[in-house]
Parts: sequence; C-alpha cells; structure tokens
Amino acid sequence: MDTSVSNEDFLATVAEKSNGAALRGDYAHMDAHYVVQQDWAAYTEAEHDLWRKLYQRQMALLPGRACDEFIEALAKMDISAGIPVFEKTSKELFAATGWTIVAVPGLIPELTFFDHLANRRFPVTVWLRKPEEFNYIVEPDVFHDFFGHVPLLFNPVFADYMQRYGQGGLKAMRLGGLDELARLYWYTVEFGLINTPAGIRIYGAGILSSGGEVEYCLTRGTKSRHIRLDIERCLRTLYKIDSYQETYFVIDSYQQLFDGTAPDFTPIYQKLKSMDVLPANTLLADEIELLPAL
Ligand code: PHE
Ligand code: CO
Repeated sequence: MDTSVSNEDFLATVAEKSNGAALRGDYAHMDAHYVVQQDWAAYTEAEHDLWRKLYQRQMALLPGRACDEFIEALAKMDISAGIPVFEKTSKELFAATGWTIVAVPGLIPELTFFDHLANRRFPVTVWLRKPEEFNYIVEPDVFHDFFGHVPLLFNPVFADYMQRYGQGGLKAMRLGGLDELARLYWYTVEFGLINTPAGIRIYGAGILSSGGEVEYCLTRGTKSRHIRLDIERCLRTLYKIDSYQETYFVIDSYQQLFDGTAPDFTPIYQKLKSMDVLPANTLLADEIELLPAL
C-alpha cells in the first residue's frame, strides 16, 4: 500500500483544522514518511538545561505514581543529562522489543503515523518546547514524545499493542472508524492508568510528561471518574484536549489491551454509528468508580 502523503495536502489539512495557524517544526527536509535527521549538535545548552529541569520535575513526582515498567525502563535509558541522542536509545529499544525511534518534524499525517506504528517505528518530534511552555504545551514536543512514550515500548506486550494499534488505524481509516479508534489511543496510550498490587499507577504518556496531571489523576474527590476499561465504552467516550481528563480508564494488565484489541472491530464501528457518543464525565448505571471520594 502507498502510505506517502504529500506535504502540501497535509499542511493544508492542518491549517484548516487549526484556523490557519502554522504548524510548528521544519517540514522542509524530510523523506516520504516524514522522517528527518535528529540534528543533535544543533540543540543549545539552554535547551539541554530545560530538558534536565523537565526531567527532574517529573522524577520528583513519579515514584509511587508511575507504573514500575515505566520507572525501570526510564532508569536504564539514562536520559537525565540532556536531550537524548535518538540513535542510542533506538538501538537499545530494537534489541529489547524490535522497535526503533524515528525523528519527525512535529505532528504528522494520520496515515503516516499509523504506518510507522504498524512497522514498529515510533515517531519522536525533534524540537523542544520554549521555557515559557514549561507547564503546558499544545503540540507534542521531544520531551512528551521521548520521555512519555519511549519507556513503555521496552515492555514486550505493550510494544505489541502499539503495533497492533497502528494496523488497526490503517484499517479504521478504510472503515470510517477513526474518531472511535482515536479515543482508545487517547484513553490508553496517552492517559491510561493500570491496576497493580500496590495500587493504581500511571502508564499514559500524556500524564507521565505533565507537570500537574501526575498528581491530579490519582487524587480522590476530584470531578474525574476512574473506571475499568471496557473497549466499546471507551470508543464512545469524548475526551478533553484542553484540561485534565474527566475520565480515566483503568486496565488490569497490558495483556488486557492486547487481547481486547485482537477481535475484528468492523462490527463495533458499525454498531457505534447508531449509538450516542458519551460526554467525557459520564458514569453509566453499572459502572463502579475505582477511586471514589473517601
Ligand atoms: N483489531 C482491530 C480491528 O480489527 C484493530 C485494532 C487494533 C484496534 C489495536 C485497536 C487497537 O479493527
Ligand atoms: Co503522545
């Protein structure tokens, strides 16, 4: 299948979606898969310093909140000293799970993104946020992509889930199920929580790279729900992109993600077309809140 997307088409689509605002990043020097070179020597000392500050802020928050798989992989990756060299971690990752890291200019077309995942390549944005974006950033940067996403790719089951998700994305594009499938990515890969013997822990990259949501998402008595992941339910649930999540879906294991996404989704997309979407703060009658107010 031809998975190349013309740059003009993509930039035109993005400009439409974001009311004409320019996409951040340099899209002038890339190949047909939006892959660029990470020009590591071009990062400034100020950028490496900002990375260290971001890293240290997260590290103070993560013990007892992030899942063990994340904390252990991150320690081995040894990326506290500055913006990492993608190639080094990519080799280590390939040895562990057969995934590689590819550098990209920023947001990339859906088709290109799914094609990378389906081929066990994780796209990581090359640029770092500005100091004034320390707490909040609109588009994903190298800190979110690398710090947030790469550690879990060292876990074999999660790595397999991510590949399957990419394959599922290519299929959903043909079936008109993209909105639904995107919700699953959002509520698992980006904002997922996992039940462990020690308590609920974070595995979602959007939380793990966030200054505020790490604590918020595990706090009782907020307006946010914590409910067991049911895949069909998740596919129906709208999400917030400009505030903390109002629902967190909790899994029991990465195997649950892999097994739950094995079936053919064609009938699910079909069925959901005749059902209402659910607002982000929904709690259905038969659902139990896993972190109720005390
Ligand atoms: N198995 C799903 C299908 O047949 C695809 C999928 C894979 C969906 C992984 C989500 C995650 O459409
Ligand atoms: Co992300």
